[in-house]
Amino acid sequence: MKRLFKIFKFYDYIILLVVFGLILVQTYFEMEFIGFTQEMLSLVGVATEKAPFLKVGYKMVGVAVIILVDIIIKNVLTSFFSSRISKELRSQVFEKVNSFSSAEINKFSTASLITRSTNDVTQVQRTLLMTVRMLFTAPCMAFFAIRKITISSFELTWVSVGFVVVTLAVIITLLFFVLPKFNIMQKQTDKLNLITRENLTGIRVVRAYNGEKIQEKKFDKANDDLTKTTYFLNKMMALLNPFMSLIMSTMTLTLYWVGASLINLDKINYPALATFSQYSMHIIMSFMFITLMFVMIPRGLVSLRRINEILDTEVSIKDGNVENGNEVGTIEFRDVSFSYENAEEPVLQNITFKVNKGDTVAFIGSTGSGKSTLINLIPRFYDVTSGEILVDGVNVKAYKKSALHNKIGYVPQKANLFSGDIKSNMQLANENISDDKISEALEVAQCSFIEKLDDGYTQPVSAGGKNFSGGQKQRLSIARAIAKDPEIYIFDDSFSALDFKTDKTLRSALKKYTKDATCLIVAQRISTIKDANQIIVLDNGKIVGIGTHDELCEHNKVYKEIVDSQTKKETK
Ligand SMILES: Nc1ncnc2c1ncn2[C@@H]1O[C@H](COP(=O)(O)OP(=O)(O)O)[C@@H](O)[C@H]1O
Ligand SMILES: [Mg+2]
Repeated sequence: MKRLFKIFKFYDYIILLVVFGLILVQTYFEMEFIGFTQEMLSLVGVATEKAPFLKVGYKMVGVAVIILVDIIIKNVLTSFFSSRISKELRSQVFEKVNSFSSAEINKFSTASLITRSTNDVTQVQRTLLMTVRMLFTAPCMAFFAIRKITISSFELTWVSVGFVVVTLAVIITLLFFVLPKFNIMQKQTDKLNLITRENLTGIRVVRAYNGEKIQEKKFDKANDDLTKTTYFLNKMMALLNPFMSLIMSTMTLTLYWVGASLINLDKINYPALATFSQYSMHIIMSFMFITLMFVMIPRGLVSLRRINEILDTEVSIKDGNVENGNEVGTIEFRDVSFSYENAEEPVLQNITFKVNKGDTVAFIGSTGSGKSTLINLIPRFYDVTSGEILVDGVNVKAYKKSALHNKIGYVPQKANLFSGDIKSNMQLANENISDDKISEALEVAQCSFIEKLDDGYTQPVSAGGKNFSGGQKQRLSIARAIAKDPEIYIFDDSFSALDFKTDKTLRSALKKYTKDATCLIVAQRISTIKDANQIIVLDNGKIVGIGTHDELCEHNKVYKEIVDSQTKKETK
C-alpha cells in the first residue's frame, strides 16, 4: 500500500479531492431528486392547474442534468487517475525486472513475471477505479438518505435498519467463502501462463515428438483448476444478485405493510411512504457497495502484493562505483568457485588463470563442464561463490555495471536478436552508431547475406530473429558485439553454427579487425581454437590443463582425447 501511495503525485490528490466533491454533489442531488418525486406525488389529486406540476418538473430536469454532467466528469477523472497509476506501476515493474540478475528471474519464473506485470497490474487498476468510485459514493449516499428518513418516521426507520443488518449478514457470509480463493486464482493463472509459454516456445519440438497429447493434458489440468476456481467465485457472486433482489422486495413489501397501518393511523401520508421506500433502497444499496468493496479490495491487494514482491526484491548483483580499471584488456580469475543457487555440487572449482591484453584464450571441454558458467561470471550475470575475478586489474564487483558491460562484447551461446530491423539491433551496441560502422561490423562478421537483401539495414528482424537461420543469427550477434568496439570479446560457442569455411574467414577477419582486443572463446572444434595463445581445458568444473595447442597435445590426456576424437571423425 505504501508503495502505491508513493506513486501518487500532487495532482493525483487534487483529482481525488475533485472526485470526492463531485460524488458529494451527485449523491446529494440524487437524494434531492427523490424529494422532488415526493413533492410531485403530493400534488396529485390536490393541485388543479398545470403550473405547480411544471415547477417541480423543471427542478427535476435541472437536477437530472447536473447529475449527468457530474457523473461524466467524475468517470473521466477516475479513469485517467487509475490508468495513470497502472502505467506507472507497469513501468516500475519493467525497470525492476530489467535490473534482475538471472538468479532473481529464475526465482520468480518468467511466466509469473509476465502475469504480474500484466494481469496483476490490470487487477490493481480495476480495484483502484472501483474503490475511488464506490468507496466515496456509498457513505455519501447512506449519509444523505439516512438523514432524510430519520426525520420522517420512527417505525419505518427500524424496518430499514433490520434489513440493513440482514444484507450485511448475507454479504459477510459470502466473503468468508470467496476471499481465500483470490490468491489461489492468481497462482493458477501463473501456472497456466507457464504452460502456454513453454508450449509456444517449444512448439516445433512438441510437433516433432508428437507431444501434443502430453502438452494438452498438462494444459487441461491447469485450465481445469483455474476454471474450477473462477466458476466457484462466479457462482458465489451470482448468488448475490438474487439475494439482494429478494431482500429489497421483501423490504419494500414490509415497508408498505407497516406503512399502510401508519397511514390508517394518520401518522404519515402516501407520498411520504413511497419516497421512504426509495430512500431505504438507496441505503441498502450503499451498504451493499461498501461490503462489495471488501471483495474488490482484498482481490486488488493480492495483486498489489504480488507486484510488490517484485519491487521489493533486492537485486543480488549490487552495483559498484568504479568506472575505469588500472589496466586495459586483462582478465584474471583467482581461485574462483561457483555453485548455482539450490544446487549441491559446485559447478566450478578453484579456477585460476590470467589473460593478457590482446591475447586470445580458448576454453574447451565436454558439455556441462562449466564453460558457459565460467564465462557468464565475467559480465556478472552471476556472482562468484568464492574467489575473485579481476577485469583490467579491478574486481568485477567494484565496477559500475554499465562501465563493466561497456568493456565487454558478449556473444551468447544462443544468438538473441530483437524485433525491429538490422540497424535497431546494432544500435543496442551503440545508440549513435553510424551506417559506416554498421556495414564494417557486418562485413567483419561475414554477414554478406545482408547486402543481397534489398532492404539493407532496414531489413526487418522478427522477435527472436526467427526470420534468420541459426548461422545468420550468430553472425549478426557477432556483428553486434563488433559494433561496440569493446576491450574484451567473449564468444560462448558462437562459431558452432557456422560451417568450417565461414568460421575460418570470420576469425581471421576478426583477428585483423580487433588487433589488441582480448578474446575469450568457448568452442567445440579444435580447428577454431588451435591458434589461441592459451587454451584452458575444463573437465567437470575444474581446470585440467592450460597451454598452447602443441603443449597440450603433448602432455594433456583430456585434450588429446578431444583432438583424437575430432581428427578421426574428419578423416573417416
Ligand atoms: N541456471 C542453472 N541452474 C542450475 N544449474 C545450471 C544452470 N545452468 C547450468 N547449470 C549446470 O551447470 C553445469 C555447467 O553448465 P554449463 O556451464 O552450461 O556447461 P557448458 O557450457 O560447458 O556446456 C551443468 O551441469 C548444468 O547442469
Ligand atoms: Mg555452454
